[in-house]
Amino acid sequence: MRWSLALFSLGLALYVSCQERGESLLVEATYVGDSACSRCHPDVATAYARSWKARSLLPVSPTLPQIENFSQPPIYDSHADFYYRVGWERDSLYVYEYRLRGGDTVYFRKERLDFVIGSGHQTRSYLLWRNGFLYEAPVTWYVRLGKWDLSPGYAGGRNSRFSREIQPPCLACHASGWEVVPWTYNRYHRVGEPLGCESCHGPGGYHVRNPADTLYHWSRWTPSQQMDVCSRCHLEGIAIEKRPGWKPGDSLSAHWVIFLPQRPELGSFGIASHAERLMRSACYQKGGLTCTGCHHPHPSTVQLSYEKRCLSCHRQGCTDPTHPSTGCIGCHMPKGPTSDIPHTQFTDHYIRVVREESQPTPQRPLLLCATEPTPDSAWVGEAYLRWYSEGLREPWVLEKALSILGRNGSSAAFAQALLLSGQPAAARSHLERVGISSKDSSLALLELYGFLLEMTGSPVKALRIWETLMRKAPFYPEARFRYTLLAYQLGQVTVEKAYVSLLKLTQEQPWNAQFHYNAAVLAGQMGRWKEAKNHLRAALAHEPDYEPARQAWNRLPQ
Ligand code: HEC
Ligand code: HEC
Ligand code: HEC
Ligand code: HEC
Ligand code: HEC
Ligand code: HEC
Ligand code: HEC
Repeated sequence: MRWSLALFSLGLALYVSCQERGESLLVEATYVGDSACSRCHPDVATAYARSWKARSLLPVSPTLPQIENFSQPPIYDSHADFYYRVGWERDSLYVYEYRLRGGDTVYFRKERLDFVIGSGHQTRSYLLWRNGFLYEAPVTWYVRLGKWDLSPGYAGGRNSRFSREIQPPCLACHASGWEVVPWTYNRYHRVGEPLGCESCHGPGGYHVRNPADTLYHWSRWTPSQQMDVCSRCHLEGIAIEKRPGWKPGDSLSAHWVIFLPQRPELGSFGIASHAERLMRSACYQKGGLTCTGCHHPHPSTVQLSYEKRCLSCHRQGCTDPTHPSTGCIGCHMPKGPTSDIPHTQFTDHYIRVVREESQPTPQRPLLLCATEPTPDSAWVGEAYLRWYSEGLREPWVLEKALSILGRNGSSAAFAQALLLSGQPAAARSHLERVGISSKDSSLALLELYGFLLEMTGSPVKALRIWETLMRKAPFYPEARFRYTLLAYQLGQVTVEKAYVSLLKLTQEQPWNAQFHYNAAVLAGQMGRWKEAKNHLRAALAHEPDYEPARQAWNRLPQ
């Protein structure tokens, strides 16, 4: 019997969300860590420990403050037909995924949770760390509602279960001290600690050696340098890294270009949009009011109330004598639900006279650049492409990306857009025209090129790309996987060798159904049915709906 190898069974969407994400941001050698700071600033360290940030990412352990209710009934995803429950077993926290038929459990999977992300003021999500690979769990605790639900972005048929990769941008905003394995997307040597002193003050090596030098003092920085620090994390949109290595004190727009979808002025605002909202306010534009005008990140003395801060500029509050002289925030900075995270409430930082009339949502909202007035069209095109692949999956968004990138001509993103619109041959020739050199190309780019070569009928060339990638990315199993399958298909390695290679991959990622399935195929071709059966069983234990494995299972010889 012959089974075909599943070459393209996982979505190609993989590439599109990948910009150059391989490198660790912490190349700066002079970060010293919080313990060095607390030696000389113990009072600040104590004050900081009370903030949310100081608990932004924590390992799961019995000492973790428990804010969840573990006795609630399981949640059910009707699209994917899975139940979920979370619970402790001795010192470990697990998520259980299962499926019921009648009263019987016909499928059951259990995964250990290794980290919590989010201090738990709004929500708490969970991460799995396996053999270095970091993934998000499909369930989240929603604090205000006091209930479990699918994680943000998983509802409505988009439950990616245990496969959503936690890539460096996520940790860059939520953690410090993490260390990614070069040439991988989500494999880490260290996942790191909560946000710390140097997340805002920048690398402290110089200051520790020269504490008297005022270079490190916050007040030495311009308002825009100060805003840039907070905006780096609180201006959440479609962020494209122009130049790696931003650190506090650097200009944000020299390193990042950030886009936000045009929204009606009232009502909806995103979870981390504080900076974008504040920057729309006259208090910022005309009054120079920045974040620290109202928030001290680690107050060790009693702070002025928000209202007193308003009154420090607006001597008498509203000039209309009929207006109350207290409660400015309630009227001018109302709380409301966020547009991107379910079940949470945030404070709208667009300080204004809130009027009832809401504008109609434009049918085709534009992406607006929040960091510079006239961004290069290559970034704009790339932003539309990212928007399409990560959020608004509507044809006109892709068309827009294609037309902008097509005019600009130089960008590798154009090739991704062409592929997404079903034109692999055009994508390939575009990449070859702009030049792809294996010397400086990124993981995402080489991978894209390898796929394009396979899709357009150049397997021998593709094999060379996978070989290059395997050398450059020895810790990225997908490269070895592609190489092995293709080399086997081209008759360049024996079935035994190919099987051994896949077997190793299944040990590295035991949860990867595709690796198991293909190992089963090779085992079957050698007549080793026992191994084939084990691999298929493992594949289905992790992905009960993985069709090739199910079919193969039904066709196993007795
Ligand atoms: C060897 C002791 C020492 C260490 C270690 C140290 N500092 Fe300082 N730091 C000082 C002294 C002394 C000053 C000056 C205090 C002053 O001007 O009132 C200072 C000033 C500062 C200031 C400016 C205060 C202001 O008034 O604006 C900041 C911010 C700061 N330190 C942060 C840090 C951080 C973050 C770390 C860890 C990376 C750190 N310090 C490590 C001794 C130290
Ligand atoms: C490296 C990323 C990062 C930077 C830089 C940053 N923040 Fe945050 N901030 C966060 C994250 C993440 C949270 C949510 C933490 C949580 O709840 O888990 C947060 C939470 C907050 C909160 C909620 C209350 C609290 O106690 O933490 C305030 C207020 C805040 N940030 C203000 C600021 C201001 C002001 C600045 C600039 C001086 C700033 N942030 C810089 C990432 C950042
Ligand atoms: C651009 C920076 C940025 C990125 C990227 C980012 N976040 Fe956040 N996230 C924030 C900030 C800032 C907050 C706090 C917002 C607030 O409290 O208003 C936050 C809040 C959260 C919270 C709720 C924390 C609370 O207050 O209880 C969770 C959970 C969370 N993020 C998870 C994630 C995950 C998982 C990813 C990656 C897949 C991610 N975030 C990517 C900046 C970011
Ligand atoms: C969210 C960003 C952020 C983090 C994290 C942070 N700081 Fe600060 N820090 C600031 C800002 C902003 C100021 C200036 C506040 C002001 O002047 O209103 C400041 C001020 C200071 C000062 C001057 C004295 C004071 O209390 O105003 C010292 C010292 C300091 N920070 C040390 C630290 C240390 C040590 C840590 C870690 C334990 C730390 N900071 C964490 C943003 C941060
Ligand atoms: C004019 C005063 C003011 C300024 C300036 C300001 N904030 Fe706030 N912020 C508030 C108020 C008021 C709240 C609500 C506090 C509460 O409910 O206790 C808040 C809450 C927050 C929260 C907690 C989550 C939420 O939305 O309720 C975060 C995070 C935050 N601010 C970040 C920032 C950042 C980042 C900046 C700068 C871009 C900033 N703030 C500037 C007044 C301000
Ligand atoms: C650093 C000074 C400063 C602070 C603090 C400040 N504002 Fe303002 N605000 C301004 C300036 C300047 C303007 C513009 C006035 C003008 O155009 O004449 C303004 C404008 C406004 C407006 C009119 C906005 C519009 O679109 O017409 C409102 C409402 C307002 N502020 C409310 C507040 C409230 C409420 C607070 C406290 C949460 C606050 N402001 C804090 C400086 C400040
Ligand atoms: C009950 C809701 C409410 C409260 C409380 C409130 N305002 Fe207002 N405010 C308004 C409205 C409505 C307007 C618009 C007035 C108009 O256009 O006639 C306004 C206008 C303003 C303006 C802009 C123009 C003007 O009329 O001066 C400022 C500045 C302002 N408020 C500041 C404040 C401050 C500071 C406080 C707290 C001391 C405050 N407001 C409390 C509702 C409120």
